[in-house]
Amino acid sequence: MEFIDLKSQYALLRDAINSRMQAVLDHGMYIMGPEIAEFERHLADFSGVRHALTCANGTDALVLTLMAKGIKPGDAVFVPAFTFVATAEAVVLVGATPVFVDVSADTYNISPDSLQAAIEAVIKEGCLKPACVMPVDLFGQPADYDRIGEIARQHGMFLLADAAQSFGATWHGSRVGGFGDATATSFFPAKPLGCYGDGGAIFTNDDALAEIMKSVRVHGQGVDRYDNVRIGINGRLDTLQAAVLIEKLRVFPEEIGARQAVAERYNEAFGDVAVTPLVDGRATSVWAQYTLQVDHRDAVVAELKAVGIPTAIYYPRPLHTQAPYASFPQSPTGMSQCEWLAGRVFSLPMHPYLDEGTQQQVIDKVCKAIKDCQ
Ligand SMILES: Cc1ncc(COP(=O)(O)O)c(C=O)c1O
Repeated sequence: MEFIDLKSQYALLRDAINSRMQAVLDHGMYIMGPEIAEFERHLADFSGVRHALTCANGTDALVLTLMAKGIKPGDAVFVPAFTFVATAEAVVLVGATPVFVDVSADTYNISPDSLQAAIEAVIKEGCLKPACVMPVDLFGQPADYDRIGEIARQHGMFLLADAAQSFGATWHGSRVGGFGDATATSFFPAKPLGCYGDGGAIFTNDDALAEIMKSVRVHGQGVDRYDNVRIGINGRLDTLQAAVLIEKLRVFPEEIGARQAVAERYNEAFGDVAVTPLVDGRATSVWAQYTLQVDHRDAVVAELKAVGIPTAIYYPRPLHTQAPYASFPQSPTGMSQCEWLAGRVFSLPMHPYLDEGTQQQVIDKVCKAIKDCQ
């Protein structure tokens, strides 16, 4: 059994993907070939956002946006501590200071109360300028953009959504992409929309910011290749990856539906034996991960491994406990939810091609393991 089954998807899309890739091999424009602009048009249409810019990966999507916005040393960027390392890493890479915020007990997304307390503490301390908040849409569910947007506006802060896990999800019925001043996503192969290597994108409705991001993406380019008007990076998406993504985006809406069906079946099966994921009534999730919370997590995971059910732990160590990040400021509310979850969560096989028989196998073995470990 696969934790994420990319082979079944490829079997279904083989002809379409192969011919798209062959077209790139034939025209030979491997860097910024026509598939890039085509895919960016599809992305903008899909998300309903004015500008969609592809880039090399989700980490670059964050770094590029922070650079374009001029986030710099002395700026505080508020991030949840229960996330993949790239969220905080991007902040450090531009020389700013990540300030760790706790997450909510129910959705596992950044806690607005902990965020508010962290901002007030930074203002009171007076050493850093609150410049940006970076919520993460953990496991595929958008963060509480109503409250976070209000807090960001109140403090004149830039809102950069780390939507690496949530592309395709919705908030108040709108698709991810337009909830912050900018939104970054990842097309890492295991993401809900993934390519065959690294890839990412940034979304914004801000015309001026989009122009700067395009320049930062290509070494801070000005009017031509040898005119450099700012510091930038080499952050382009490969044309071959855009070719793959054009075909995958076509089937993405149906795949989201299939993920939702798996999640509903899991919710029903595990409701009595574990803490199942809670999706906010204003949101839909794209189920990048299906994550349970249990007592004796390590024993449950070990038993599942022994009976051939693959699992993963996202995340066993919150960022504020890891050596390179341990000295950065934390919200005065503490990080108790991040620490609690890190000891209790584990994720199950989740992908759109998980057939009902395999789902039942997962359900039976997970229920048994949880009971055995009580
Ligand atoms: C929350 C989050 N942010 C950022 C990233 C970075 O994306 P990439 O691996 O494409 O650089 C990831 C990828 O796993 C992620 O999960």
